[in-house]
Amino acid sequence: MIATAKRLESVNEYYFSKKLREIDELNKQGKNIINLGIGSPDMPPHPDVIKTLQEESAKLNVHAYQNYKGSPILRNAFANWYKQWYNVDVNADTEILPLIGSKEGIMHICMTYLNEGDEALVPNPGYPTYRSAVQLAGGVCIDYELNANNNFYPDFNALEKIDLSKVKLMWVNYPEMPTGKRASKEIFEQLIAFGKKHNILICHDDPYSFILNENPLSILSIDGAKDIALELNSLSKSHNMAGWRVGVLCGAGERINEVLRFKSNMDSGMFLPVQLAAAKALSLDKNWYDDVNAVYKKRREKAYQLLDAVKCNYSKEQSGMFLWAKISDEYENAYLLTDEILYEHNVFITPGAIFGSCGDKYVRISLCATEEKIDEAIQRIKN
Ligand SMILES: Cc1ncc(COP(=O)(O)O)c(C=O)c1O
Repeated sequence: MIATAKRLESVNEYYFSKKLREIDELNKQGKNIINLGIGSPDMPPHPDVIKTLQEESAKLNVHAYQNYKGSPILRNAFANWYKQWYNVDVNADTEILPLIGSKEGIMHICMTYLNEGDEALVPNPGYPTYRSAVQLAGGVCIDYELNANNNFYPDFNALEKIDLSKVKLMWVNYPEMPTGKRASKEIFEQLIAFGKKHNILICHDDPYSFILNENPLSILSIDGAKDIALELNSLSKSHNMAGWRVGVLCGAGERINEVLRFKSNMDSGMFLPVQLAAAKALSLDKNWYDDVNAVYKKRREKAYQLLDAVKCNYSKEQSGMFLWAKISDEYENAYLLTDEILYEHNVFITPGAIFGSCGDKYVRISLCATEEKIDEAIQRIKN
């Protein structure tokens, strides 16, 4: 037996990786599970994006290793995108680092800044990768709670009361997954002030700002933000390109070079045609986002009906491609509800506890399924 490294002791296999295996098994038994769990867009990218990939990959001179900092064409496209949609200036040469999805960026940031025993603030509930990346890097997670009482924003009074002396970075994500809470300029200002006061690197993860959200916001739009904040973004959700693995890290040139010191030892850049197709995606106009959102809006209406059918409570002011909903008091915790729905009605929705203990009494429904599928799920549950 070869023992695994100690760092693996702190993390388990990703919940969805295990659950999807179980769903596969159930499907093999003929159950035909409707999966409303995972947030993987089921719609394709824009046809011009696919065409660019096809045309570029047919060329003979695009197959070599690429620049570790990404193609200048992609970096310029990201810079223009940030200017056009977030009104933020980022220098394409120095302040942008294309990533193989934002998930890898989360790991790279933790590996770049955390020493053994350093602390990181993570949202509870929040994207599980923040926690696991901190732990894999040897860091210690300090949860900050997001609940209805504090409007799903960090409670800065509570944070000021804890010992922050070992805290080196803070993970933040608005629109927040899973709560659907939107960003506000005020909360970003407070975060930047908090980071500066305590010398904590504010790491904002922004992959949902174009989904069911009228006003995309970047934390880098706050004056002086680059002194203390980094921002991750992604084409996975905004451009229906989750499988393509294209994301970006934006921030001060010095920070970008620090993260690059780690990343350039991990991979050797992205396939050039993927980068060129991503640049095309970033140049799409408002019609693209409107069309995608029109579909999600209709699905969201159906998802409200599904949540009503299982007596959950929810806010209609949510952004992102999920709905976050509180279970009825009939159930002691959300696993009891999601297991009942899975094993009795063949519909999978996500129990909120996988995003942290504050999600115990919540479920999350994904809008990455057609209206027909959501309708069928409602019928199965009602019958
Ligand atoms: C909050 C959040 N950040 C990052 C990611 C990962 O995105 P990417 O596909 O860009 O790695 C996800 C994916 O579900 C997410 O929910």
